[in-house]
Formats: sequence, C-alpha cells, structure tokens
Amino acid sequence: MPLTETTRDELRALTQKYPVARAALLPMLHLVQAHEGYVSEDGVAMCADVLGLTKAEVGAVATFYTMYKREPVGDYLLSVCTNPTCKIAGGQAIYESYVEACGGAHVDPDGAGVMVEHAECLGICDAAPVVQINYEMFGPVTQDEAMDLLKKAKAGDPPASNRSGQVPPTFTAVERELSGIDDGVHAQLVDAARVQATSPVPPAYRSGETDIPVTHPGGDPTGHGGQAFAAAAGFGEVPSPTDRAPDAVATDAAAATEQQDVAGPEDRAAPEDVAAAEATRDEGAYSEAQELGEQVTDPTPTPPGDASVGAEETMDEEAGKPQPLARTGIPADAPEPGTPQPPPTDEPEEGDR
Ligand code: FES
Repeated sequence: MPLTETTRDELRALTQKYPVARAALLPMLHLVQAHEGYVSEDGVAMCADVLGLTKAEVGAVATFYTMYKREPVGDYLLSVCTNPTCKIAGGQAIYESYVEACGGAHVDPDGAGVMVEHAECLGICDAAPVVQINYEMFGPVTQDEAMDLLKKAKAGDPPASNRSGQVPPTFTAVERELSGIDDGVHAQLVDAARVQATSPVPPAYRSGETDIPVTHPGGDPTGHGGQAFAAAAGFGEVPSPTDRAPDAVATDAAAATEQQDVAGPEDRAAPEDVAAAEATRDEGAYSEAQELGEQVTDPTPTPPGDASVGAEETMDEEAGKPQPLARTGIPADAPEPGTPQPPPTDEPEEGDR
C-alpha cells in the first residue's frame, strides 16, 4: 500500500503521543513498514518531513535497528536463531536449508512472499532450536517441522505457535500494531485534556497515576511535561489551613518566619502565632526523637515475661509498678546510681608511695 496523505496524518498523530516529536520516530518507521512492507526511500522522506529532520538522520535510525527492513519482506518474516544454544541444536542447519529453499536468497519471490533472516538469541534457549514467524515463537522444532513452517508460510497459511497458540498475522498487520497507531492512547489523551480543561477543580495526580487506562508506555499523561494537562493539575486541591495537620502548620509558620526578610510587614505572621506553631513543631520533633531513641536502645522488643540481659526494669504484675532488675557488667562494689560520693582527693594512696 503506497504512502498517502492519510499516512502522513497518521504519522503526525503518532508525534502527538510523545513529549518530543522525534521520540515518535521508531513507531513512525513501524507504520511505514505497515504501509509499504519495508522502510522505503519515500517513507524515510515522509518521516523526515513530518519531524523536520534530514533524510540522513532518519536513515541512520532505520539502518541501525535490524527490525527495520530495507527491502520488501512479503507476508511472513522467518527469523531463525543461530546463537550458540540454537546453533548446536540445529538452528544453523535450519537457516541454511531455508536460504537454499528460497533459491539462495533471503527473500522468496514466489507464493505469499517470505523473508528469511538469522536472529540473535530470542530468549527461550530452553526451547532450542527456535524459529519465529512474524515474531511468534516456534520451538523446539525439528528440521522437518522447520521446513513445514516455511512451506506453510509461503502458502500464506502458517500454523499456530506451539508456544503462544497464536496464528501469526501478516507482517504489515504486525507492524501496524507495533506502531501503536490504533491503541487509542491519542484519543484518551485528548479526552483527558478536555475533561481537565472543563473541570472546576482539577484532580490531583502523582507520578504514574492517572484516571485513564494506561495501555502503552507513551500513554501516561503525567509524563507529558504539561502537554496533556494544565500545570495546576500537578498541585491538586490545597486543603484549608484548618484542615491541616499541626506539624504542617508549624512547618509553614517556620517557613514564613524565614521569608520575613522578603515579605512586607502586612504579610508577616503574628509573633504569638509563630511561637505557638514552633512550640507545636518542637513537641512533634521531641516525640519523634524519643521514638527513635527507643528503637535504637531496644531494637528487638522484649517478649512479655522475659527479663533478658540489657533490660533495666520490668513490671511487677501484682503491684503494677516498675521493679529494678539485677545489673549486669558492673562491679559488685560499684555504688548505686544516685548515691552521694566523696569528692576526689589529690592525696596519694598508701601503696603508691
Ligand atoms: S540461543 Fe536461540 S533462543 Fe537463545
């Protein structure tokens, strides 16, 4: 199917899904393959025109990735893994048989049209040797089974994958899916932006959180740098001061104190308000420090009734009062804490003379 103005519109639509237009180049090249069966010169030129790039820049990307083909694929692309595990299991022999069956070329001119390629590890080495038809896995396959796959692909009737159970779609159908043009994300973004623009109170969003289903990595509007939503949506609804936690008020009051140098006198908080807020903050800070101290001094909670080493007191269940435990690691003649001690003297002991 040749490239048309409809193709150009679809390429433009793909650019709308990304914060930077040229980020859409890879999906755009998939879309070109969906129309032409490979990345043609016309396809490179159209992508370059839509993105404002040179044809050399687009061509550099198209020739870098092996998933973009520079000659027509036909309906089915057969990828044979020839990495070590599959090669030892017969993958190399399968690949060479495929090339021979295609008349010594990678593209068979007859039938529905197939292209044969060797592939790097396809990630299921335990199923070696592995063959893909339009990225559907088949493995392990014997030499005869592999040749049967080629025969059926050339006849336009490939079998279902013995891994996924899926019948491989045609190459152009797969490429259209890979482009993401029909995944509906663009329409969802437009709808979300419309709701956002008409909402009296924009909903609050945090990173990775939206009210629309995210079906594609490029579909998360929070990652669109403000293109999809107004900037205010990032802050959400601000609660009134009376609803806020004391420590939040205290933090605000402290911040207001620090800003008094830049704020006018009419903007400054009353001294008594600042004092009350700081007292609240100090109280909260003391509680946190106390809690942290307890965790440090007693990282493993003592089981009930277990007066283990290190505990300084326990509860007398009958009296309900704390009772001292035996002190450990302290000399027997050491004075009890709190006992008045005589002042130190410089007079030498008798044995020191
Ligand atoms: S080596 Fe063939 S799938 Fe890993």
